[in-house]
Amino acid sequence: MAQNREQWGSRIGFILAAAGSAVGLGNIWKFPYTTGANGGGAFLLIYLFFVVLIGFSVMLGEFALGRKTSLAAAGAFKAVGKSYTFIGVLGVLSAFLIMGFYPVVGGWAVAYIFKSVSGLLAAPDMIGGVFDGFVTASVEPLIWTAVFLIMNMVIVGKGVAGGIETAGKFLMPILFIILIVIAGYGFTLPNAIEGVKFLFIPDFSKVTGGTFLAALGQAFFSLSLGMGAMVTYGSYLGKDTKLASNAAIVTTLDTLVAVLAGLAMFPAMFSFGMEPAAGPGLVFVVVPQVFSHFGPALGPVFSALFFIALTVAALTSSVSLLEVAASYFIDEKGMKRTTSVILVSAVMAVLSVLSSLSLGVMSEFKILGAGVFDVLDLLTDKIYLSLGGALLCFVLGWVMKKEDLKAEISNQGTMPFALFEFWYFIIKFIAPIAILIVAYFGITSAPQMGLMIAGIAIMVLLGIFSRKL
Ligand code: TRP
Repeated sequence: MAQNREQWGSRIGFILAAAGSAVGLGNIWKFPYTTGANGGGAFLLIYLFFVVLIGFSVMLGEFALGRKTSLAAAGAFKAVGKSYTFIGVLGVLSAFLIMGFYPVVGGWAVAYIFKSVSGLLAAPDMIGGVFDGFVTASVEPLIWTAVFLIMNMVIVGKGVAGGIETAGKFLMPILFIILIVIAGYGFTLPNAIEGVKFLFIPDFSKVTGGTFLAALGQAFFSLSLGMGAMVTYGSYLGKDTKLASNAAIVTTLDTLVAVLAGLAMFPAMFSFGMEPAAGPGLVFVVVPQVFSHFGPALGPVFSALFFIALTVAALTSSVSLLEVAASYFIDEKGMKRTTSVILVSAVMAVLSVLSSLSLGVMSEFKILGAGVFDVLDLLTDKIYLSLGGALLCFVLGWVMKKEDLKAEISNQGTMPFALFEFWYFIIKFIAPIAILIVAYFGITSAPQMGLMIAGIAIMVLLGIFSRKL
């Protein structure tokens, strides 16, 4: 099987695709409003700490496991031991759950490309109302969600090297440039420095147990960790590729884009006297509002460019989520790629419809106090990804042999990784303990504690029945 596996066309192609998976709505939609809601600088500091200490190490661990086994998530864990299969299956479940709301927001981004250039910015006072009206409607957002999902199916259906890599190669650099242009423009505005201060000067009075779990969840979500995506990507890597430097590059790129998105957002917001804690609608309300101050010619162009970037970022991420789920049925159940992609997308489409409707006509329907959209977001971001990461650390640090990991990460000793011992210590002790502590305090202080505990119960059940998977 290993010999026949498709491989990445080039190293840069892999980095762009893996960075494309990491950089997404998490960086541009979620990061700014989560940072805003958690008080700015202090949240950023905790987030960066988790990214460097835990994020990088877990990413390297996922690459190593994937390449060592040459198998996608579930198969890779199964190869370590049958009782660990459920960790991979949990990842597949996470992929389904994330893809139960991701295409909805991806669809909004596509819609806002068109809205930007068709009069949205002409009436700045209406922009907030337009967003609320749009996302709570029953039909229009579903059409855009469908457009977004179909784009995914086409890219993933074409296969690894052909589809994902080509998309990443062209779309990622475009995203980077657009964000720099927007941030650069924002800096020239009066009072912009206040936004920079908000982002970089920590105010620890705003920090709670929830802040730490939010930062940890954001790190896992943004880096595409804790669910086997990077295991799957690693499984397509050539044996001579240096894993540690790839993990470092992807982690750095992802973090740069998140900070860049913050820099594109906060200075302009402060300049126009807007609230940083605006919530999930932030990007869709604030960005057009900000750009409406740019005048009738420039404004729509800037706004459309921004939402093209957001769509691009979302697409290169969602294709890898789809890939995690699709490759499970291809590798583990012997399904044809096309069949698998169609089957998996159909489930994601149903969940996405429910998510989208939960913001409107179905808003009364709650599962343990939360609507469908929030349930899917909460379970993955706050529970499954970080606990999935802890389980991965457990397997790497306590089940697999240290020498095997050392051989894999150093390419059989030909390219030694100087920090191996340090990395191993983090994986074996620091990361799993830190994750469990943060999760404990975050969950016990959360208003949706019941839902989170139910989510953990599902995880435990998966573990118990793992031998049948
Ligand atoms: N990292 C992606 C983003 O920031 C979202 C994501 C989470 C993801 N887990 C993933 C993407 C797994 C691909 C694979 O938007």
